Amino acid sequence: MLTFRSRKMLSIGEAMVEMAPVSDGLYRRAFAGDTFNTAWHLAQRLGPGADVGFVTRIGQDQMSNAFVAELTADGMDPAGISRDPNRKMGLYVIQLDGVERSFHYWRDSSAARLLADDPVELGRALQGAGLIHLSGITLAILTPAARQTLFAVLEQARQDGAVVSFDPNIRPRLWASAEEICTTLSAMLQVTDIALPSFDDEAAHFCDASPADTVRRMVAAGVREVVVKDGPGDVHYCVDGHTLAVPTPPVNAIRDTTGAGDAFNAGYLGARLLGISPQIAVASGQTLAAEVLKHPGARAPKSAISALPPLQI
Ligand SMILES: Nc1ncnc2c1ncn2[C@@H]1O[C@H](COP(=O)(O)OP(=O)(O)O)[C@@H](O)[C@H]1O
Ligand SMILES: [Mg+2]
Repeated sequence: MLTFRSRKMLSIGEAMVEMAPVSDGLYRRAFAGDTFNTAWHLAQRLGPGADVGFVTRIGQDQMSNAFVAELTADGMDPAGISRDPNRKMGLYVIQLDGVERSFHYWRDSSAARLLADDPVELGRALQGAGLIHLSGITLAILTPAARQTLFAVLEQARQDGAVVSFDPNIRPRLWASAEEICTTLSAMLQVTDIALPSFDDEAAHFCDASPADTVRRMVAAGVREVVVKDGPGDVHYCVDGHTLAVPTPPVNAIRDTTGAGDAFNAGYLGARLLGISPQIAVASGQTLAAEVLKHPGARAPKSAISALPPLQI
């Protein structure tokens, strides 16, 4: 069973400026991004004792300053955030068409795309982490050379005792080709200790016929802890050769499915960091995902998270 040398969690990736419609051409500004959402939920779930940081690159402008101020106020550590003199944060606008949401991005030249260009700076940012989390979106926004840098830094961090968790979160639009997706994600599995894929993504790109297939493929790649999400379906996991399918409790009155997988990751990883068993950690992931599903947007309200029963071994 994986153990963690410390409870310090660092999540690597891109947070963007979010413009979400309020009414009639009026928008609310927020900050979001898959790995950021996971770190944020984990920090809220573990509460004031949490040691959670976000590792990214942003600008030196006022909007970037507002991002740092907000995540710091929400109990997260900004020490791993580097500042780019020439670039800014990416941005996306949510468009509502009835209940359907579409996302429009301005992220091609975001500062976060350079987050792994300097191996020394990145290695320093990751020092002391018990758990390092990233996603396929983190990899997709990097150049091929920067991906290799990131893999090398992750391998070094693992040799130093960190555990690496990875959610493939496959977004074809961000990748050059299907082949690039497959080769990059397969390479990532070589430095992954905990994999947190969603079955529909894996089925589409790796031809897995069932969640059990996804589990088998990732275990065969050497991943010690594999947890396959499947929307309302069972969560299939395999830890050290022990497999189980955990039913997902039904969620009534789903408002918005955005961010459910990111919140699941936070609930699962938070529990594992506390030494809780994988089976109970899956339930913790399902509980946090359910809170996100019940509320609009990618995050559950802080009040809903703090009302959850405390995580205990
Ligand atoms: N319709 C649903 N009913 C209940 N739980 C759900 C539903 N959809 C998602 N979830 C919860 O959210 C988790 C992640 O969902 P999934 O759709 O697989 O991820 P993603 O949001 O990354 O696509 C699931 O494991 C489950 O706990
Ligand atoms: Mg996902």
